Amino acid sequence: MDTAAGRTPAVYDRIGTGYSDIRVPDPRLHALISRALEGARTIVNVGAGAGSYEPEHAKITAVDPSQVMLDQHPAARKVRAGAEALPFPDGSFDAAMAVLTVHHWPDPHRGLGELRRVARRQVVFTWDPGHPQELWLIEEYLPEIRDMDHARFTPVAEVADALGAHTVLPFPIPRDFTDGFQSAHWQRPERYLDPAVRQASSTFAQLPPSVVEPAIERLRADLDSGLWHRRHADLLDRESMDYGYRLVIAG
Ligand SMILES: C[S@@+](CC[C@H](N)C(=O)[O-])C[C@H]1O[C@@H](n2cnc3c(N)ncnc32)[C@H](O)[C@@H]1O
Repeated sequence: MDTAAGRTPAVYDRIGTGYSDIRVPDPRLHALISRALEGARTIVNVGAGAGSYEPEHAKITAVDPSQVMLDQHPAARKVRAGAEALPFPDGSFDAAMAVLTVHHWPDPHRGLGELRRVARRQVVFTWDPGHPQELWLIEEYLPEIRDMDHARFTPVAEVADALGAHTVLPFPIPRDFTDGFQSAHWQRPERYLDPAVRQASSTFAQLPPSVVEPAIERLRADLDSGLWHRRHADLLDRESMDYGYRLVIAG
């Protein structure tokens, strides 16, 4: 086992079980990421988790510090390691991908430097803490998420700078988005009442139940009384919402 894995607090060893049931890869995000990785035959997926969003016809090396996540990954080549110390020689891969993982890395700049070192192209999907539009769940029920996410997500401009990126693409979340990360259910508020849905999002899973449960009870009451629907009538007609998710492409 790579020693970097031993140093990483593997949150996903605790919350990763059942991840694939809720975090179903979304075909529209898959298409966007696959286009960015077009032509790459060898790809290292860093923070690979269960292998979401990997292009079908590439040779994948899956890297993750969590054994629970690697156990759910189908690749033949799996390496238990953290992004900060990738156990590969310089230029080993056509491309490196990292999807919704940079915010888990203890040293994002070092990890991004490693993506540049081991691969000729980099494709990183992340969330921008500087984005002005906030999810109603955070504004009205769980402002604690704001502090937590602002502390752990690196601004997209910094990610782009660290990679020497040439392209940053917005990804507005479709109304029927299938991958249950935090903002996924912006138009389906009742989904947040399900503990399994909350467990598949690391922010929820890391907040204490004493914070989450009263907020969810308030949401339940607002849904029962119709208050949520009155307050958010404007959201119900929208096809997608830009909550600050971005695809950063370099190389
Ligand atoms: C939200 S999951 C994303 C998994 C996958 N990329 C996806 O899109 O479904 C975050 C992943 O980052 C991994 N991770 C945590 N710390 C890491 C580190 N230091 N280096 C690389 N990956 C890490 C976690 O174990 C987890 O599998």
